[in-house]
Amino acid sequence: MLKIRDLHTGYGKKPVLFGLSLEVNQGEIVSIIGPNGAGKSTVLKVICGLIPTWEGSLSFNDENINGFTPAENIKRGITFCPQGNRVFDELSVSENLQVGGLHLKKDEFAARQDTVFELFPILKDRLRQNAGTLSGGEQQMLALGRALITKPRLLLLDEPSLGLAPNIIATAFKRICQVNEEMGITILIVEQKVREVLKISHKVYGVKLGKLAFSGLPGELSQSEKLKKIFL
Ligand SMILES: Nc1ncnc2c1ncn2[C@@H]1O[C@H](COP(=O)(O)OP(=O)(O)OP(=O)(O)O)[C@@H](O)[C@H]1O
Ligand SMILES: [Mg+2]
Repeated sequence: MLKIRDLHTGYGKKPVLFGLSLEVNQGEIVSIIGPNGAGKSTVLKVICGLIPTWEGSLSFNDENINGFTPAENIKRGITFCPQGNRVFDELSVSENLQVGGLHLKKDEFAARQDTVFELFPILKDRLRQNAGTLSGGEQQMLALGRALITKPRLLLLDEPSLGLAPNIIATAFKRICQVNEEMGITILIVEQKVREVLKISHKVYGVKLGKLAFSGLPGELSQSEKLKKIFL
C-alpha cells in the first residue's frame, strides 16, 4: 500500500532522515519506534505531505505521491493524527468532528460520525462541550475520532498514548486494534510505549539518528541484546 524508498528530508538546511525505506501492506499495523529526536514524527509528516521529500520515492497504492499536499493525500485516504492532543480548543466536540469531514457529503459524514460514536460513546455525550475543556484522554479520543471521520485507508498515528493515564493506555491500544480489525483501516503508528505497541504490530521499524536500525517482526527485536538496549 505505502512504499518509501531511500527517503531523505529535513527542516531548512538541516537533514533529519538519511535514506529511509519502509513498506506498509494493506490491513497491517506497522509501528515505528526509536529514541527522542530520531526522526519518527518526521517520517509521518513527509508521508502526509506536511514537509517535502529531498530525495527518494514515496508511493501509495502504486501512485507516486511525492510532492502531494496534505489535502491531496487526504482525498486518497492518508490521514495524519499528530503528536499531542491537537484539537481545536475553542470549537465544540461536534465542530471538531465537522472539520474532519469537510470534504464529505452530508449523509456520508453522518454515517462516519455514527461509527466514531460507536467506538467512543463519550464523544456523543459531549457534543456541545468546548474541546479545550475535555480531559487529556477525551481530547485524544476526539483527535482520533476526527481522523477517522476523514474515512482514511491509511491512518498515521503519532504517539496516541502520550499523556494518557496508565490505566487507560491498554484501552487506547485496544481501540486502535478495533480500528484496524473492524473498520479495516491500515495503520502506521509511532509510539514510545514500545512493549505495548509491539503487541499489536504486524511489523516494526526501529529508527535511530534518521536511519533504520531495525526492521522485522516484533518478536525479533527481543532476540538481540544490542537492539533491546536501543529500543526496549
Ligand atoms: N519544524 C522543525 N524545524 C527544525 N527542526 C525540526 C523541526 N521538527 C523537528 N525537528 C528536528 O528534527 C529531528 C527529528 O524530529 P522528530 O520530531 O521527527 O523526532 P521524533 O523521533 O519524533 O522524536 P520524539 O520521540 O521526541 O517525538 C529533531 O532533531 C528535531 O529537533
Ligand atoms: Mg515525535
